[in-house]
Amino acid sequence: MPAKILLPTASNLSLVAEALRAGKVAAMPTETVYGLAGNAFDPGALAQIFAVKERPTFDPLICHVPPPTDNEAWTTHLVAQGLLAAEGLSPLAQQYVERLARAYWPGPLTLVLPKGPRVPDLATSGLPTVGIRAPRHVVAQALLREVGVPLAAPSANRFGRISPTMAAHVAAELGERIEFILDGGACEIGVESTVLLVEPDGGLRLLRPGAVSASDIAMATDAEVQAASAAAGESATPLPSPGLLASHYAPQKPLSLLSRPLSEHTPAELAALAQEQRIGVMVASGDPEVLRARFPENAGVTIYALSRAGDLAEAARQLFATLRACDDAPEVAAIWAETMPGETGLAHAINDRLRKASHR
Ligand code: TXA
Ligand code: MG
Repeated sequence: MPAKILLPTASNLSLVAEALRAGKVAAMPTETVYGLAGNAFDPGALAQIFAVKERPTFDPLICHVPPPTDNEAWTTHLVAQGLLAAEGLSPLAQQYVERLARAYWPGPLTLVLPKGPRVPDLATSGLPTVGIRAPRHVVAQALLREVGVPLAAPSANRFGRISPTMAAHVAAELGERIEFILDGGACEIGVESTVLLVEPDGGLRLLRPGAVSASDIAMATDAEVQAASAAAGESATPLPSPGLLASHYAPQKPLSLLSRPLSEHTPAELAALAQEQRIGVMVASGDPEVLRARFPENAGVTIYALSRAGDLAEAARQLFATLRACDDAPEVAAIWAETMPGETGLAHAINDRLRKASHR
């Protein structure tokens, strides 16, 4: 039976909350991408998440929490829920967590912290740390409050595939495998959260770029942020963050990256590109019709602009839906993509996804 796509009415929220409390899984909207949620403290629910996604159990999950209701400190709130072992963090590291949470929670930032006593090993793939995030989406917050337990939720796609940014994408990915999809509209951000490892001594490592940038983090903490790759050699685990796996977010059709913006290609270069018939070209900005007109008329080329105006936030919102559209378009056999100009903030986040999608 295909999943029911439910509007987030009060009665639908309690229906889904009831299912989650009973140990089932369901898809929920967040401001980044849709998540496949289950009770973070229920190993049976966690096992279903891995099974439904066909996700290998070495890839840990993110636990989602609602904001504290009173003026409680975030660290106190996380400890009270059994998610965080604060004694595993130095006073400086705890201060960083508090500052980051105050600045960016609820929002698109996941903090990897020493795990508390209630977190099952399955949620963390046996790691001593757990990924924690307070989402900003009102439907996610309402669901979390209604369920009353943290929800583990990876992106609601099959493993290695494109993350869903609309309820219909979840239905296309997991439709026959789950019962409920809460429809919260198109995701406001469109790329997954920034993942930041907070080390016991206060070291900060960016494990996955997202809408909260390294400089945002540096500003909130007054500390330097290290790149994830630096951790790879020194880490006790072979993978500092499984999200770093090279092939990820991949469309089914081959995707290649252009070395320069399409608008800078000479007519001869465009003609050479169009030799390969039935290509879809994803550009960061510009007018698709104008760009298309520079190719030979009989070329099998379709242009997709992530943002005509070159707005990075719009490009991030459109990224996964556009990759999906390329995958679904019969007139496209292979995909070419421009990377975003620059390597900071959302440009870094988008380019990271494009590089992973292009890896073969
Ligand atoms: O925006 C998001 O983060 C979305 C929404 C649904 O919240 N979720 C998401 O989950 O992207 P997922 O499972 O697709 O990515 C989670 C990634 C893991 O692949 C891993 O890279 C990192 O978060 N992660 C989680 N726990 C970790 C841990 N203990 N140590 C290192 N990395 C961890
Ligand atoms: Mg994912």
